[in-house]
Formats: sequence, structure tokens, C-alpha cells
Amino acid sequence: MTEVACPRSTAVVDNLKRGAYSAESLEKLRSKLEGARARASRWRQHGRELQKLLAGRATLYVSPRVKGARACVNHCPESVRLIQDVVRFFRPHLIVEFGTKYGGLTLVLHDACPEATLYSYDLHKEYLLVRLEWFGPSVYFVTQDLLAHRSRELKHLLCSAACKLLYCDNGDKEREVLMYAPLLNSGDLLGVHDWEREVRPEKVQSVLVDFDPVDHQLFAAARSSTRFWRRR
Ligand SMILES: C[S@@+](CC[C@H](N)C(=O)[O-])C[C@H]1O[C@@H](n2cnc3c(N)ncnc32)[C@H](O)[C@@H]1O
Repeated sequence: MTEVACPRSTAVVDNLKRGAYSAESLEKLRSKLEGARARASRWRQHGRELQKLLAGRATLYVSPRVKGARACVNHCPESVRLIQDVVRFFRPHLIVEFGTKYGGLTLVLHDACPEATLYSYDLHKEYLLVRLEWFGPSVYFVTQDLLAHRSRELKHLLCSAACKLLYCDNGDKEREVLMYAPLLNSGDLLGVHDWEREVRPEKVQSVLVDFDPVDHQLFAAARSSTRFWRRR
């Protein structure tokens, strides 16, 4: 690839070499550079998401419940449809989502069962693109490192008597399943994304022996990498 020199940046580099900048101008330059870096990183991220959407690995979900509510979901369209079918069928009272990212799947889950209390966890809150007013008053976005330790509040939530769905889609899903699925009660649902991709069945077998698969053939036939189980 031929490298093209930008005349403006060449002039800046020449001035830098000559020591032509005052401390104040250098500080201004530094903050401009940081802004440009942040914008470039956002555009790279948008580009990656667009590629996923075009390849059918992500979905632009449009809510039928709230006018104008839409968000990118890191799941294929078939997964989104099947996940909503499962949630509508079981109607959990409490939904706990691990891995909010933009909040697209949070919207999908909430639309399928708006009366459920929903807690969505993520390490970062700066990815969040959904608007809080698209959700009911019982939806909570929590910033927390799920893998550092099991917080008392989260343990309490997952052990509570409510009929629950725990959906695992964060940075290390195998660890997440091993750490949190054993807290679920009989009748609770466990959902896992990237099954057989990032989550190797043999690594979570010790926990899943207490769970029964839910509609696995349907998800497999739709080439979805989501799977659900119900605790026996
Ligand atoms: C694949 S994205 C979630 C996508 C989302 N479920 C969807 O379908 O649109 C994974 C998310 O997990 C979060 N994550 C990674 N490690 C985490 C941790 N240790 N604790 C909490 N969240 C974490 C990342 O910040 C990222 O937003």
C-alpha cells in the first residue's frame, strides 16, 4: 500500500521537530489527537458492527412496543426470534442478563416479557445506546465486573424464589456459567450465547447435569448459537 502524507500533519511534525510549539500549543495538540483517536476508535467499532449486521450475525431490532426504539443486538435474527418465543412461553418473573453492551438484547428480552423485573449487567456503561425511557420502571442497568467475584446482591437475586431467566453473554461465558448457574433454583431457565463456539460443552458439563435442554433442536435447526436449559 502506498503511504500518502497529509500536508497538514507533515507541517505539524516539522514544527514539532523544530521545537516550534509552546507548552500551551502542545497541550492543545495533544487533546486534539486524543479526540481524533477516540473518533477513529468509534468508527472502527461502527464498521465492525456494520459488518456483523451485513453478514447476518447481528440484528437491528425494532421494538414493536415503543415507537422509535431500536438497537443493534449481537445475535442473528433467528436467535432473536427464538429467544423471544422462549421468554414469552415461560414468562419469568425475573430476568438477569449478563453482557448488556448496547442494550439491544435487553430491549428484546423486555419486549418479550415487559412485566418481568430485569437486571442487566456489564463491566462498561459507555457502550449503552438504548434510552432508559424505552423500558419500564423495573429494568435496571448495573455496572459490575461479574467475573471478579459473586456480589452479595447478585447471589441474593439468583437464589430468590422468583421464576427466573439467567442469560449469559459476557466476556467469559464458560466461567460465568460455572460461577452463577449453580445458584439457580428448580424451574429456573439458563440461556447461553455462543454455545459450542465460546462455550465448550465439556467445560460446563459439571453444572449442566442438573439442567434439561429446552428446544435445542429448534435453535440448532435455525443455526442459532443460543441454547436454553431448565433446572430440574
Ligand atoms: C458480546 S457483548 C454482549 C452483547 C449483547 N448481549 C447483545 O446481544 O447485544 C459482551 C459484553 O460483556 C461485557 N463484559 C465483558 N467482561 C465482563 C465482565 N467481567 N463483567 C461484566 N461484563 C463483562 C462487555 O463489556 C460486553 O459489553
